Amino acid sequence: MRSPAPAALGLLLLLLPPPPAEAAKKATPCKRCRELVDKFNQGMVDTAKKNFGGGNTAWEEKSLSKYESSEVRLLEITEGLCGSSDFECHSLLEEHEGHLEAWWLRLKKDFPDLFEWFCVKTLKVCCSPGTYGPDCLACQGGSQRPCSGNGHCSGDGSRQGDGSCQCHLGYQGATCSDCTDGYFSSLRNETHSVCTACDGSCKTCTGPSNKDCGQCAEGWAQEDGACVDVDECAAETPPCGDQQYCENVNGSFACEECDSTCVGCTGKGPGHCKECVPGYTKESGQCADIDECARPEKACTRQNENCYNTPGSFVCVCPEGFEDTEDACVQTQAPGGEVAEGDPTRQPSREDL
Ligand SMILES: *[C@@H]1O[C@H](CO)[C@@H](O)[C@H](O)[C@H]1NC(C)=O
Ligand SMILES: *[C@@H]1O[C@H](CO)[C@@H](O)[C@H](O)[C@H]1NC(C)=O
Repeated sequence: MRSPAPAALGLLLLLLPPPPAEAAKKATPCKRCRELVDKFNQGMVDTAKKNFGGGNTAWEEKSLSKYESSEVRLLEITEGLCGSSDFECHSLLEEHEGHLEAWWLRLKKDFPDLFEWFCVKTLKVCCSPGTYGPDCLACQGGSQRPCSGNGHCSGDGSRQGDGSCQCHLGYQGATCSDCTDGYFSSLRNETHSVCTACDGSCKTCTGPSNKDCGQCAEGWAQEDGACVDVDECAAETPPCGDQQYCENVNGSFACEECDSTCVGCTGKGPGHCKECVPGYTKESGQCADIDECARPEKACTRQNENCYNTPGSFVCVCPEGFEDTEDACVQTQAPGGEVAEGDPTRQPSREDL
């Protein structure tokens, strides 16, 4: 089969449904209802502040109580509910304006919680907190404290999910009342369960210190009734390479590279070398470059030759105006017959080396 032409492929992609991530971003009916109620409640707060700035004359008190539950105020609140381009919000509001008005004018006193009355009881798109699913059943662990307060109930407050618990770190079990490894139970009664992290040296424990470990964590070992750090660096066979040093840390160890001037080392830097690489020697405990050019015996042996020290070594160079021959630097004749310009003591530039 031939592969489709690019244009045909483009058309195919257009016809495919959007990827799942796009679909998941769309708000659920419950979420949209909740947002509307949140904005409505905010609108109530804003209008309560807006019209009466703290005065308390008899006239103001009287007008305030009139305004409080007036249609004027309802209108002010609903006007600010949806963003100008929020189509879904506008259509939701349009569809249920009658409900909101009924609640505002007649039902508010008996059902003060707008979310409960509107989203749960009337539209039936949400459940009360602590309940889940089409019939708003209680979450695992009960609707009062779902998942013992130590996890998230699947579908909590929505008409979705299965009511099971997703426990927070340190908790496990159907109702998140048990502790996982690395945690111990520091409080437990009929309704509450609190798990607290073990000391870092324990894998399991019954209390907070390194003396309360059941098993020690990796890199720690029992010693006198407590878990203490194992010094891996002190092992008979050292765990690091020849050109590394070993650093013991709590529960573990690290191998670090020796300084470049070292042959073997016991720590960081040129001050902890066992021996020095060729061209370096120990000077007050540190591996330092040897200046071969400063030695009594000449490093550069040819006649007229200059010696330049380099890190770990040296170079022998004929001065400018001199020519390399096998056993000497020989002065060259310039084309005009004169001796070429050039100072035999001039330092060569870096590129010359
Ligand atoms: C359980 O412990 C919690 C937290 O200390 C406490 O608030 C609650 O009253 C206790 N409940 C019972 C039944 O003892
Ligand atoms: C190492 O562990 C001990 C005991 O758990 C602790 O007191 C100490 O602070 C730890 N040190 C470091 C550097 O983490």
